[in-house]
Amino acid sequence: MQSCLVDLLKEKLGFDEAFNYKEEKDLKSTLQRYFPQGIDIYFDNVGGEMLDAAVTNMNTFGRIAACGVISDYINSEKHSALSMVDVIYKRIMIQGFLSSDFSTDVFNDFMSMTRDYILAGKLCVLEGISYGIESIPSAFVGLFRGENVGKKIVQIAKE
Ligand SMILES: NC(=O)c1ccc[n+]([C@@H]2O[C@H](COP(=O)([O-])OP(=O)(O)OC[C@H]3O[C@@H](n4cnc5c(N)ncnc54)[C@H](OP(=O)(O)O)[C@@H]3O)[C@@H](O)[C@H]2O)c1
Repeated sequence: MQSCLVDLLKEKLGFDEAFNYKEEKDLKSTLQRYFPQGIDIYFDNVGGEMLDAAVTNMNTFGRIAACGVISDYINSEKHSALSMVDVIYKRIMIQGFLSSDFSTDVFNDFMSMTRDYILAGKLCVLEGISYGIESIPSAFVGLFRGENVGKKIVQIAKE
């Protein structure tokens, strides 16, 4: 399953590189291996150790878009301990944001642009559908067990 996911990221979604964080012992050296020239821009959905590893591997004047800290939600004892020395000396800019910040002015443009990309095959949509109201608990728990691929949907009834 896990190596299939790496193949999916590279072959179907078109990422240049991908790895499975669950198989890596030291994320700092993993990122160094995949980004030998350093990281300029990091979109953070994860927080925790992944964020620390990214900051260690950032280039001078690197930028981080802080979207979410899913590792904190799953394991609240493992907060990020990112190196502020790195942040300062490399002049890294970290900017948090909420999608609702953009809900009024660019939402309609986003919807039509996304629709066009999907229709043109430039954006790939992955959905994991489970069926029936009785599947809600396992669908929800599966989000935290690495069992889900793509947007999780529970279909309650056929239209
Ligand atoms: N800023 C905003 O406005 C905004 C809005 C919506 C969502 N978010 C954030 O965006 C992030 C993604 O949301 P989502 O709905 O796409 O979540 P999701 O469907 O539950 O997916 C979470 C992903 O994170 C991976 N993951 C979990 N723990 C990880 C770790 N320690 N290291 C690396 N990867 C890890 C999971 O992989 P496995 O399943 O293999 O563990 C899964 O692929 C979340 O942090 C969420 O809070 C932010």
